[in-house]
This record gives sequence, structure tokens and C-alpha cells, in this order.
Amino acid sequence: MQESERPAEIEPDDLKQLLRDLLVSPSYRPPLLPQVATELMQLSQRANVQFEEVVKLLERDPVLAARTLSIAQSAFYATRSPVTSLNQAAVRLGLKTLRELVLEAALHLRVFRVPGMERPMERLSRHSTAVAHAIRVVCRRTSLDAEYAFLVGLLHDVGFAACLLALAEDPYWKGVTFEQFAPVLDEVHAEASALLTRIWKLPEPIQRSVAHHHDVKVNGKVEPTNAALIVAEQLCWEAGLGMLPPPEDADPYAMIMPEPPLEGLDANWTGTVNEAAQALKMDDLAVCATRAEVFGLLEKLGLAAPHAAKAGAPARAAAAAPAGAPRR
Ligand SMILES: [Fe+2]
Ligand SMILES: [Fe+2]
Repeated sequence: MQESERPAEIEPDDLKQLLRDLLVSPSYRPPLLPQVATELMQLSQRANVQFEEVVKLLERDPVLAARTLSIAQSAFYATRSPVTSLNQAAVRLGLKTLRELVLEAALHLRVFRVPGMERPMERLSRHSTAVAHAIRVVCRRTSLDAEYAFLVGLLHDVGFAACLLALAEDPYWKGVTFEQFAPVLDEVHAEASALLTRIWKLPEPIQRSVAHHHDVKVNGKVEPTNAALIVAEQLCWEAGLGMLPPPEDADPYAMIMPEPPLEGLDANWTGTVNEAAQALKMDDLAVCATRAEVFGLLEKLGLAAPHAAKAGAPARAAAAAPAGAPRR
């Protein structure tokens, strides 16, 4: 299709259908995870995997290895002395953390890259990393599997990149801005995330989680990982790492949860966030304490700007308290 044939107004329903058709058409070339990252995901599921095997595998992709090392060298991971080699990173951080770092590096290097969409892709990349770290905090407070959830956090919105890449390669859509695509991307991105994780042959539970990541319940049953993701997304949005601008009065020690917008890119309705917190048996105090921890972590990771404390001593004390009693 030619650009000149495109009508001035984009019909959301038409674009949605076209996007769905594009994603399943034989000519669609999905963003690819580097072979080494896919192999590492499979290898790390084996019980008796050796450090040397992982290092050897990573050495096959020097660019990915370099990026992984640079994340491992950041202040967050290299607490005692800098990590200077892959072998050291594997020994010091452990294979699970190394796998997470490789996936984060791979997404940043190869997947969150769409020509002409650099700014939204950079935002998406930071959002995904932030949500992955935040969901780990939520999981530790609710005894869910934090490491599996971290991967879901990293991958939940890869569908945005899949959709944008499909559209960017079609000359018909040349010149259309991210903002014009946004309402339709919002509706289609979760199924695109599922499609992409299936193409990448990632474990099935990950495919299922990303497919419905804005729903607390799937087929009437609570999905705890989805609930944790929704709480994590809320806290990341408050900290300025959502896909939408944060609330003006973001406060790490707030006792009341700010209401996210009713609609917009990657938004969760406030009723859904409350439902997620209840499903995880997190009361207001537990959410408050998790918020303070997530804000601090995102600052330490260099993802969020420091937030000045606005609340007084009682709120601070609440933030320091452990997760509260289950809500009845
Ligand atoms: Fe998201
Ligand atoms: Fe999303």
C-alpha cells in the first residue's frame, strides 16, 4: 500500500484488524531474540547446568555479552567490586540473575528498536526493566516466585514493539506518529506479546501471563502473577516509569493510592489495581511499604529521579513496616 492512499483519519477498528492480520501474515518478520538468549533460557531450565557452559554460550555473541557485562557492572549489581568478566558475573550473581541480565540486554539491543520510534521504545525499555524489578519486590512480600515474575515483567509489553515494527515496515503507515497508533496498540499489545513469546518458544506459563497481563482473573480464576504485575505497574507509573505521565504529586510514602487515568496507553483502571492488591492479600499498609521500597529501588537502579519525602513521621513508620495482615 502507498502512503498517499491513506485517509486523513485513521479508523481504529480498521487499524486493529489490519494490525492483527499483519502479525499473523506469512510475510511478517517478528523482532527476534538473539539465538544465544533463547538458548540460555532453555539451558537455564536444566537442573545441572554448569557455569562454564553458560559462559561459553554467551561468548558466541560478543555484543550481547558486552551489554550484559555493562549491566552487571552497574552500581546495583556490583556492590563490592566491579564485575569484569562473564565468568565472574556467573559466579558472583548466579545463573538465574545472569539469565535475567542477558534477557534485559537482548530486549534492549534487538527488540525495543523500531526505526522512527526511538523515544517511545526507550520509554518502553525503561518501563519493562522497572516493572521487572518492581514485581520482584511485590512477589517477595507475597511469597510468589519472584524470579519467574521478573521475566514476565521484562516481557509483558514486548507486544508494543512487535506491533510497531509490523507497522513501521509497511509504507502505508509512514509518517503516522506513535500517539496516533497508541489507542490501537493499547488494545492489541497483550495478544502481540503472547504471539511473540510463543514465536520465541519461551516457557508456556510466561506466554499465558503476558497474554492477559492487564487482567487479574483469567477464565474467572485469579492469576497471582498478573495481580503482582498490575500492582508493580501501578507503583512504576507513580514513580514516573509508566507509559503514561505520572501523577503530579507522586510520593513514595503516600498512604493513599493515586488514581491512574481511566484509559490510555498501558493503563490499569484503579478498580483493577485494588482487585489485584486484594487478590494478593495486600492491605493499604502493605501497598504503602511496597511503594516506598519500589521507589527506593528504582532510584538505586538509576531509572527514577529521587523523590523528596513529603509525608511526616507516621507515614514513614508505616512505609518501613513489613507487609500487613491479609485484608478480609
Ligand atoms: Fe506495562
Ligand atoms: Fe501492557
